[in-house]
This record gives sequence, C-alpha cells and structure tokens, in this order.
Amino acid sequence: MSQLTRRALIRGGLGVTAVATTGLLAGCTTSSSSSQVGPTASAVAEAEARRRSASGSVVRAKLRPRPVTLDLGGRTVSTWAYGDSVPGPLLRATAGDVLKVAVDNGLATDTSVHWHGIALRNDMDGVPGLTQEPIGAGEVFDYEFTLPHPGTYFYHPHSGVQLDRGLYGVLVVDDPAEPGSYDEEWIVVLDDWIDGTGRTPDEVLEELKAAPSNGMHGGMEHMGPMTGGPGDMRSEILGGAGDVEHPYYLVNGRTPQDPVTLTGRPGQRVRIRIVNAGSDTAFRVDLGGHSMSVTHSDGFAVAPVETDALLIAMGERYDVVVTLGDGAFPLVASAEGKGGAALAVVRTGSGPAPGASSSPAELAGRVLLGTDLVAEESVRLPQRSVDRRHDLVLAGTMAPYRWTINGKTMEDAEPLPVTQGERVRLRYVNQSMMFHPMHLHGHTFGLVEGGARKDTVVVGPMASVEVEIDTDNPGQWATHCHNIYHAEAGMMTTVSYQA
Ligand code: C2O
Ligand code: CU
Repeated sequence: MSQLTRRALIRGGLGVTAVATTGLLAGCTTSSSSSQVGPTASAVAEAEARRRSASGSVVRAKLRPRPVTLDLGGRTVSTWAYGDSVPGPLLRATAGDVLKVAVDNGLATDTSVHWHGIALRNDMDGVPGLTQEPIGAGEVFDYEFTLPHPGTYFYHPHSGVQLDRGLYGVLVVDDPAEPGSYDEEWIVVLDDWIDGTGRTPDEVLEELKAAPSNGMHGGMEHMGPMTGGPGDMRSEILGGAGDVEHPYYLVNGRTPQDPVTLTGRPGQRVRIRIVNAGSDTAFRVDLGGHSMSVTHSDGFAVAPVETDALLIAMGERYDVVVTLGDGAFPLVASAEGKGGAALAVVRTGSGPAPGASSSPAELAGRVLLGTDLVAEESVRLPQRSVDRRHDLVLAGTMAPYRWTINGKTMEDAEPLPVTQGERVRLRYVNQSMMFHPMHLHGHTFGLVEGGARKDTVVVGPMASVEVEIDTDNPGQWATHCHNIYHAEAGMMTTVSYQA
C-alpha cells in the first residue's frame, strides 16, 4: 500500500492526473511492511463518530467548478471558478454541524475540493491519490463531514495548480459559545492573479520547470541553487518572496482600479476575517488610520495583540478586530517583496475614496507574524511529553525547478509514520533562502512553548519552526508548502498513521 500510495500521490500531485488507483481506497496491503491506516479504515469512521454531536444540524451546499469569464475590475479574464464568482460561495455552519457539499465538476478535467484547516475525516480531505479518487469531468462527488472547531477556513482544489485559477472560497464555522464582542463582520480574501492574462497557472508551472533557458524572471543570474526566488522579488522578512510575477492582486476578486467597498459606521467594532488564497504571494495587510487587534490565527484564538500591519502567507487566515474611524480608508494588502498591492475601501462617512495606489503609513510600522503570537489559554495543547519527533528539511533549486522535503520530491517521499494517541513534534527546517508557508492537513498544530494553534506556519529563510500535534485523527495526511508552485514541484510529504 505504501508504494501505491506514494506513487498515486505524485501522479496526483497536489493532486491529479488521471491515475488508476484501484485498490488504493480499499485498504489493500500489497506491501508486507506496511500497515497504513487508509482513508477507508474503520479508525477513520470511529474518529468521525466521536466528532458527531446529536444537536448538530446538517448544512447542505453545492459547488460547481466550471470555466467562466469574469470582470476583475478593469480587466476581464477567462478562468475557472466555483459558480459565477471569485471567491466562490461563502459556506457557513456552526461547530458540531455536518457539512454536505455536492461538487459537480463542470470542468473538462479532474478536480477535487480540500477543506483547508478542518480536522475532518480523512476520506473527505480531498487529496486525489491519497484520500480519494479524482473527481472526473462531469462527475459529482458528495463531501460529508463534521465540523469540529469554529473558525475561519477556506476550500480549494487539491489538483495541480488549480488554486491559482479562481477556484477558492471561504468556509466560516461559527462558535455557538462566541461572545461576539463586535458589531459587524467582513470577509476579506486576498489573491495573486495571473490566469487569463496571457498564461494559465499550468503554463506558468511549465515555464518554471523549463528553466534555466527560459527568462521569465528577466534572467536567472540572481538565483543559484538554494537561493529560491529571483533577485527582484525579495523581502527583508521572508527572503525570496515568490517565484511568479502575478500581474494583479485582488481583494474579494477585485483589482484596486475598481475595488470592493466595505461599509460600517464610525465607532463600530468590526471583525475582519482575512484569508490569503494566493498561490505565491504573502501579503502585508493594514487598514489606513487604524490599528488592528489580532484575535484568531487559522481559526483558533490567540492572546489579542494590537498591530499596525500583519503579514499573511498563503493558506493562513487571521481574524482581527478594528474600531472604525469616520471617513473613507484604504485597506491595503501589499504583496510582500513584490511591489504591488491589493485594495479594498472601508467607508463609514463621506470623503473621497482612497486611490488605487494608496500606501498607508502603517505598512511601514510594526509587522506581526503568526510566529509572534501566543495561543489563548483555552486552545493550548495540554502539557505532555513528546512521544515521537520528525524533521522536515526544506530545500530547493530554481534551475531545475525542484523543491524537496528531506531531499525528496513527493514522488519519492518517505511518509512520516505516527500512531494514534501520540504527542508528535514536527520540526520544519528551512535550508533555503526563501520562506515556505508549511501546512498540515487534518490537524491544528501548536507552535512550541505556547505559540499559536495553526495549520499553516511561515518558516523563514534558513530558519526552523517546531510544532506539536496530538495524533487524534487517523488517516493519511498531506503536509506541504502552500506556495502552490513549490508543492507541485515536489515540496510535499505525508504524515502517515500506522495501525
Ligand atoms: Cu490548502 Cu494541502 O492545502
Ligand atoms: Cu515553499
């Protein structure tokens, strides 16, 4: 089974080209040494049964990924989206509910839907070749799982670089016990955009892989092995800031030329749920004229911190609370190290709208990262000694375009074994000059020493981050860089429950 799984995972990639995975999902044991707890194992159903509560409701939704033509604000593109809009429909339920989503694939190719950040049953995690068969063109797949924890989450395909099309949407899980000390709620989805502007994300990936002869970054001389990222996209905090020059940056599917307007009243307290759905861009976010109180990271409460600006990497989500001033203000998400920005307008009164190239002073102020935060007491992992440790060494080269964990791309990756009921410490060790937002499926880890509970964490250039999980969700779980181009170029492996 491990051979089969591993091979299926690569062909599936983040995940997919059509591959015969017959037997994969049947819990077969073709390899003598393996006793992997597969997606259809009884332990997976048992874990789900423990999550179900009698009081939960069933929330139903439909998603139809399909080709569309969209106006992004002064720019019309042909792309793929869930229905008629980017982002796709907002899905919303309460912790303890069962979410049932029928995915009706209107694309001419395979797809899948991954529920990013949700500690769900393994067979609903949406990773083709690892947890399910791909959803073929014209096919329908019914996802059904319990939502165990409140928070801000999102959904996207786990198939190739489809996330860098318009295929993403937000999933909010409300907390029945939330005091709700705010008057309004806004949802802000950040994205870097290239699809339909001359190249598709698949073509971008092909060009990266065709290096060094290809000069898409204006010359390869800046990037030796392990530098990561072309010389003109660098950040003091992140090192190499990205591999792809996206021509547009969006808030809620709109360019700064014709932005969304978020409205409120002076003095109101607003909770802003911010999601970075970008593929290759971290954003430095700031609301002009305001400071932000950061209350949640990746869905889980943190000890609130006031900040001017917040750095949000791909796959991360933050909830912040602001007290609104009077007027019109720019909410700016500057593409870190890339020199572009996304914009929304916040309006509580009269006055001219901020211009497309607004750059509030707060952007140069204090910048907070997820690794600076401390978990709120109630969401800390209990004190416990570590039963098992795994290192994940992150490295790569631009030419050839290849990103690895422990020296292997995902096709050769050795799964990291765990068993149920352990405290496991994972150490992400970055041996490249470029940041990697590392994501783990099916679990929310705790950064060691009381740091935030998160599922996606920035590992800075040549830096290490240690996290712990309690292995309470059996199955086969991807862990990978949420730079979608890095993941597709190999930076992915599996945390593999063994019986
Ligand atoms: Cu949002 Cu495997 O990722
Ligand atoms: Cu990466």
